[in-house]
Amino acid sequence: MFPNHRPRRLRSTPALRRLVRETVLRPQDLVYPLFLVPGQGIAQEVRSMPGVYQLSIDKAVEQCRKVQDLGLGGVILFGVPDDKDLAATGAWHDHGIVQQGTQAIKQALPELLVMADTCLCEYTSHGHCGVLAEADTTGRVLNDPTLTLLQKTAVAQAESGADIIAPSGMMDGMVQAIRQGLDAAGFTETPILSYAAKYASAYYGPFRDAAESAPQFGDRRTYQMDPANGSEALKEIALDELEGADMLMVKPALAYLDILWRVKEATQLPVACYNVSGEYSLVKAAARNGWVNEEAIVLETLTSMRRAGADFILTYHAKDAARWLGHGG
Ligand code: PBG
Ligand code: ZN
Repeated sequence: MFPNHRPRRLRSTPALRRLVRETVLRPQDLVYPLFLVPGQGIAQEVRSMPGVYQLSIDKAVEQCRKVQDLGLGGVILFGVPDDKDLAATGAWHDHGIVQQGTQAIKQALPELLVMADTCLCEYTSHGHCGVLAEADTTGRVLNDPTLTLLQKTAVAQAESGADIIAPSGMMDGMVQAIRQGLDAAGFTETPILSYAAKYASAYYGPFRDAAESAPQFGDRRTYQMDPANGSEALKEIALDELEGADMLMVKPALAYLDILWRVKEATQLPVACYNVSGEYSLVKAAARNGWVNEEAIVLETLTSMRRAGADFILTYHAKDAARWLGHGG
């Protein structure tokens, strides 16, 4: 043994370990997703996501108050409308559920950061993230007609007070189209957080229960990325940067920490990751069986995402994690 080299020296007390700790996890690094439904007084638990609820706007505002008291980074809003159609009207209409929710939340809590997820899949009758040709039964989304609707959606979200626009549809040119739309409408200061490297993942299963957005036919593999590809993620982020993205996201997170690391190394922009529904449900199921220690597993997992390069994390564990970290609430 080399007597000068004893790494255990720095592990010998909690104070030493804290002094040399490389990664910190703080409540402000976490963003909490919310699912908005029409109506009043509704808090309907999602079957496959214990502790996650579809909320009417009044209940969502209550949740946002807790989010603010816990010191979280903000919320991201998803809409679950009553009516879906081929043109995804609910996504871009002034009275769309996310637009209404954003207005109510910003009115009650002007300081809370509100991100709007910008996609069409929750609003189309077929559940795809964009426009389909009339006879299509495979889900081969038409790229450019979709851009027009994403642009309209982003502008409507900004008009309702959204602080950050977060396009998640993986259409080519979506960041540029949205940037142009926002600028033309006078929202030159509204940042875009692009879901730049989003994979066609089985980990989204429970989300599709929560958002009622499963595709009615086909799948998302003609627009979301192949899980086998890594270099392609770097191409996607390079394009989104050129198109004017302000921040980049990798999604899912846990099975893609290598991608997160490569993206962080390749960009100067802030990088986020999405700790998605399936990742949450796996932990919840095991914890409910008493097979893992939920608090320890969640904090270790979120810390690993920060270590791999995430500046902030979208996660359904956000409120619990903030409590476990011992801040606020
Ligand atoms: C919609 C969207 C999805 C998620 C976020 N935005 C699902 C999908 O692509 O089907 C997944 C989030 C999660 O699983 O928690 N474009
Ligand atoms: Zn979508």
